[in-house]
Amino acid sequence: MKKVITYGTFDLLHYGHVNLLRRAKELGDYLIVAISTDEFNWNQKQKKCYFTFEERKKLVEAIRYVDLVIPEESWDQKVSDVKEFKVDTFVIGDDWEGKFDFLKNYCEVVYLPRTPEISTTQIKKDLKK
Ligand code: CTP
Repeated sequence: MKKVITYGTFDLLHYGHVNLLRRAKELGDYLIVAISTDEFNWNQKQKKCYFTFEERKKLVEAIRYVDLVIPEESWDQKVSDVKEFKVDTFVIGDDWEGKFDFLKNYCEVVYLPRTPEISTTQIKKDLKK
């Protein structure tokens, strides 16, 4: 069984996220999604989410392509996650192109093209207009 992992915040779930998760699942048989915790978002990414970790987790778990959701609590857990879950492929949107090439020592690394125009940041901006 080929295992795939991806990481993200997935706040205000939108079709860009769903497109990413669908294509991630197509790369294997079992998709793990590591969702950043509220503490990690705030302390490391200076991001405040609209939905809590538990709410974001429930939403992502409800997507048919997703087999398992785990918390992302630090930048450097990726290597241990890949080893622990015996991951074959790490996948993420190409806004991160090149940033996780160090994982090629442990698994395949794939950067998928982002869905144009939509993002959580853009949704927040548009709602303020
Ligand atoms: N993603 C994508 N296409 C989009 C938006 C996001 O493929 N239009 C991907 C990202 O590249 C990442 C995953 O979805 O692999 C989770 O992205 P996340 O950062 O949670 O979503 P964004 O909408 O980009 O959020 P923000 O604007 O807060 O950065």
